[in-house]
Amino acid sequence: MASAAIGGKLSSALLPGSNHNSCLVRVVPARPLAFRRRLPARLLLASSASSVETTLMETIVAGKEVSGGGGGDWDNILACPICYRPLSLISDGLLTVDSASRASLECSCCRKTYYGKETHVELIAASGAKTYVNPMPLATEFFRLPLISFIYERGWRQNFVFGGFPGAEKEFELLKNYVKPVLGGGNIVDASCGSGLFSRLFAKSGLFSLVVALDYSENMLKQCYEFVNQESDFPKEKLLLVRADIARLPFLTGSIDALHAGAAIHCWPSPSSAVAEISRVLKPGGVFVGTTYILDGPFNFIPFLGAIRQNVSEISGAYSFISEGELEDICQACGLEGFTCVRNRQFVMFSATKAKPL
Ligand SMILES: C[S@@+](CC[C@H](N)C(=O)[O-])C[C@H]1O[C@@H](n2cnc3c(N)ncnc32)[C@H](O)[C@@H]1O
Repeated sequence: MASAAIGGKLSSALLPGSNHNSCLVRVVPARPLAFRRRLPARLLLASSASSVETTLMETIVAGKEVSGGGGGDWDNILACPICYRPLSLISDGLLTVDSASRASLECSCCRKTYYGKETHVELIAASGAKTYVNPMPLATEFFRLPLISFIYERGWRQNFVFGGFPGAEKEFELLKNYVKPVLGGGNIVDASCGSGLFSRLFAKSGLFSLVVALDYSENMLKQCYEFVNQESDFPKEKLLLVRADIARLPFLTGSIDALHAGAAIHCWPSPSSAVAEISRVLKPGGVFVGTTYILDGPFNFIPFLGAIRQNVSEISGAYSFISEGELEDICQACGLEGFTCVRNRQFVMFSATKAKPL
């Protein structure tokens, strides 16, 4: 009851363009880039670990289309997380949330097949490795625990209201303002979707042609699938669950209309590698919307906050933001422009857009 009342006030207060005085709304206009160069026909695809050069034509024409029930402009977005070339669906039927467990997708370049697992398609570079176990920082491993996945939407996420998070429904309302240009047919990736609270809202809204619910935690994805199956008339043909690392996204370059990352950037091992990947997969004009905490306001009085943050970050693998400027900085450094954000106490929703080629 209490949180609904707080959330009700926030919804009108936080909306960009609202004149509500009690809310801190900061809109940072797009700045022209100091240095721009016309891209040649070849695109340089950057990632955390390496760079892969491929041609735009190869990216578009190679491979059989990966089809889905959405039937719109969302097919052919999946790519090999090793070489970023298209994947071919080699199993029978369409790729949907229900058929994902039986799916096989092949990369003709790497000669590697990626398989579905129980509830999702496994698109991790190391998938198929027999003895190697991919080491991930604590902040990533923590969410792989079955208990955390189970309690996430059963109380854990609701507690975010104390940090100023308005709650999933109201956050979705806010998000719509940022993704307006792609509503009514664009595809959306819910990156680090957790148990899929937003992915499910996105799919049910009918505003997107395809929703990809992506997370590194197989248990979060299992939980998402369970919630989907509990709902009657869920538009399953719109949703696909994918296990992937945010710093190695299994999507074609320039194929995604919108990418949402709720309460996630502070959990990523390297926010800048992740934002670089997000920038790579967004279409020109595509939108990145994220939410996180900013440790400013009363936190500014903590002595040595920067040094403490550094130590915590090294141990946990999580990165706490202490100013909005840091978020803007990462976005700009990774080729995203028009940074804008709304605040409510420690909560921030920020957005930036993939620059259009000159
Ligand atoms: C706090 S939860 C956010 C869940 C949901 N988006 C929300 O708004 O509540 C953070 C999520 O980030 C995911 N995550 C952490 N490291 C990741 C990585 N390297 N790649 C992809 N997802 C990651 C975790 O598995 C977890 O589900």
